[in-house]
Amino acid sequence: MRSETIRKIIRAYDDPVVRAYCWIRFGILRQRFLDEIGQYLPESGAVLDVGCGFGLFSLYYAAIAPARIIRGIDLDRRRIAMARRAATRLGIDNVVYEENDARHFKGDGHFAAAYMLDIVHHVPREVVPSLLAELRRALDRDGILLVKDVDTRPAPKRWFTWALDKAMSPSTPVAYWSSDELTETLTASGFRVRRHLMVDMLPYPHVLYVCAAVP
Ligand SMILES: C[S@@+](CC[C@H](N)C(=O)[O-])C[C@H]1O[C@@H](n2cnc3c(N)ncnc32)[C@H](O)[C@@H]1O
Repeated sequence: MRSETIRKIIRAYDDPVVRAYCWIRFGILRQRFLDEIGQYLPESGAVLDVGCGFGLFSLYYAAIAPARIIRGIDLDRRRIAMARRAATRLGIDNVVYEENDARHFKGDGHFAAAYMLDIVHHVPREVVPSLLAELRRALDRDGILLVKDVDTRPAPKRWFTWALDKAMSPSTPVAYWSSDELTETLTASGFRVRRHLMVDMLPYPHVLYVCAAVP
């Protein structure tokens, strides 16, 4: 039934290139990984998706838990417009999209959870600590931040991921963090961090950082 939800989401985009992108993203973050990530999201309450892109994962997590209110932000206007159109077509009304640069995001303490799926390595390194601090401020006292990113090791997996990143979006800068560095930065930003290794047969060095806001 959840696989049908994924197929419906992909069909909500007209552009064949975007559809192909969706198939690839849902192939990389496939059902097993969506469940691994989703198990940490609250079933209800406000959830922030930073760098939501075309909206596919926010649509998925909104569709399977109608009491969640997901807010997706992305700096790409076209992607936000497509995410809104897809939500309307699918009749998913517990998600809202906003064109917004994460570098200027200001936290206001009312989100039960926030997540960033393959975003940190696209944000300039020097901005990441202040973004994490704002996300910490954006969360409720017992809020949770999920960061899914890729490790710098083993090197061949990093090269594979880099080649794919460049193929999908050649002009977007990429700066990967080692899992130790990112854990340290998350901890310094006010989170208690647990690393959840998302072991993949494909050569992706996925890491999910499950971050509890420290009161
Ligand atoms: C690799 S895509 C990931 C999109 C989506 N999270 C996913 O997993 O399919 C990276 C996204 O981050 C967005 N992005 C990059 N820098 C950003 C920033 N400073 N603020 C908001 N969005 C940003 C891009 O526009 C793009 O949609």
